[in-house]
Amino acid sequence: MTPGAPGAVPLTELPLVESLRADLDRSGLTVEAVEGLLGPVASAALHREQRLPALREVDRAAGTGSHAVATLVRLFVLGGEVTRVALDAALPGTGTQGCAQLGLVGAAGQGRADAVRARVDLRPYAAADAAGSVNWWLTSDLGELATGAAVHPDHVLGVGGASTTLAQVTVRDRRRRTLDLGTGCGIQALHATRHSDLVVATDISRRALAFTAFNAALAGLDGPGLDLRRGSMLEPVTGPLDEPFDLVVSNPPFVITPRGGPGGAADSPGVPHFEYRDGGRAGDDLVRDLVQGMGRVLAPGGVAQLLGNWEHRRGEDWRERVGSWAQASGLDAWVVQRDVQDPAEYAETWLRDGGTTAERDPAGWEAGYLAWLDDFAARGVEAVGFGFVLLRRPSTGRATLRRVEEVTGPVRQPLGAHLAAALAGHDWLEARDDDALGAARLVVAADVTEERYLVPGAGDPSVVLLRQGEGFGRAVQAGTALAGLVGACDGELAVGQIVAGVAAILDVPVVELRSELLPQVRDLVRDGLLRPDTGVSSLPDPGPSSLTVGG
Ligand SMILES: C[S@@+](CC[C@H](N)C(=O)[O-])C[C@H]1O[C@@H](n2cnc3c(N)ncnc32)[C@H](O)[C@@H]1O
Repeated sequence: MTPGAPGAVPLTELPLVESLRADLDRSGLTVEAVEGLLGPVASAALHREQRLPALREVDRAAGTGSHAVATLVRLFVLGGEVTRVALDAALPGTGTQGCAQLGLVGAAGQGRADAVRARVDLRPYAAADAAGSVNWWLTSDLGELATGAAVHPDHVLGVGGASTTLAQVTVRDRRRRTLDLGTGCGIQALHATRHSDLVVATDISRRALAFTAFNAALAGLDGPGLDLRRGSMLEPVTGPLDEPFDLVVSNPPFVITPRGGPGGAADSPGVPHFEYRDGGRAGDDLVRDLVQGMGRVLAPGGVAQLLGNWEHRRGEDWRERVGSWAQASGLDAWVVQRDVQDPAEYAETWLRDGGTTAERDPAGWEAGYLAWLDDFAARGVEAVGFGFVLLRRPSTGRATLRRVEEVTGPVRQPLGAHLAAALAGHDWLEARDDDALGAARLVVAADVTEERYLVPGAGDPSVVLLRQGEGFGRAVQAGTALAGLVGACDGELAVGQIVAGVAAILDVPVVELRSELLPQVRDLVRDGLLRPDTGVSSLPDPGPSSLTVGG
């Protein structure tokens, strides 16, 4: 009975999975219940990969009587032992026997007091997306916290920060065909089933697909609407019979990993290969190729959203480098860099992620660290950017959107609906020259506020900021004329009429003011601070906001 033994995957045996779902439902194993059981201190410690405070809390709860949630958290989240009788009581329909048959646990014997250990991680997941709220239970491989050992190269990741980031930025309007590339435990695919007629979920890992199949069945989302395919990158979806997709989501194995050997083909000494994060390519080639190749699988109007890392190389502006990938894709492209690490920080992050620490394995730490630094130095890499890329095949065939920017501050997740509205805003602007924009009626978005900063005693503000409450939370400094124009955008007057009025008040030539203000108005529409007046409130619907336990 080895916890998290290599190769353990859950088996999708349908009647048993349904019985497990009913049991989990009755057990009350929800995100809220687990956080309530653990309390804020142990929950926060769990987020920092510390299990002792949580173990203490579950043992305290178990000591007060039979407590299904405590038993299940001890077993499936913390990797602790429970007795057979305790698991039978927590999941009475499935029992230890059924859980073993599903590949979820291993038991030392048939006796009531015999120890049972988890073979996979199973935990609740809660989110709200455009289709409403979800409460699922997801399985994945047990992590280092539960097993006390470094994870295996074919480790299947549970829901983490990157997974929820992608789920929250995903545009969630109704789609016919959606692709989730590198599905892992299936989290993106499960969300996509809620707004897609068909979801194709791919992974190079047979084990990941087994977890996805199980998780879909446990959520009641398996069936003809979910098609699981094994293969590398776009290969499983670019056969002669494959149709294009209306939405592609991917949290790909984008971690830049040093490669040794001739031509960089082999793994570097001291740097383990993890399938969940390393696509086996040099540098950021995998993200580049995915961006450049995405047009092969997108239908007209189809959107692709992916996470990625990209290198900042000496003497090259990263915006131009990533922008050139977007250019080569032939697609509309919007790249948002959210974070930047220097080479040393990057090496430390991914060494720790793989379970290597200086204390536990000084030689491995040093070899790995140097391999990363040498690899970056060989390509003149000064920093690594992390962010998301949105691509869209223009319906007209001609790409018009090319935006590469850095937004490092906090954003108001979920961003998906905001991004969809921004794409619509872009298209609206593209369809209007300045005369048409001047004839349009605009309204200030409901989440925008104006901040005025005055030098003490002054009558007029020296700085006026327009601040967006949702989306990217952008702040735009507005001069007197722009602030006046925005203040008058209530849908009554056309933009051109407002410009003429402001010009009269400020006593400046209207033509000059118009050519100064219209580009700024375009920026405000593009960023969602001003919206075309459609007579209906256009605040976006919420996309998924999600909660996981200790993720
Ligand atoms: C970072 S995980 C993402 C898992 C999940 N989609 C999520 O959002 O949490 C990347 C996934 O890509 C898979 N993968 C690795 N190399 C791949 C390849 N060449 N082609 C397709 N998938 C690959 C891994 O097995 C892993 O499941």
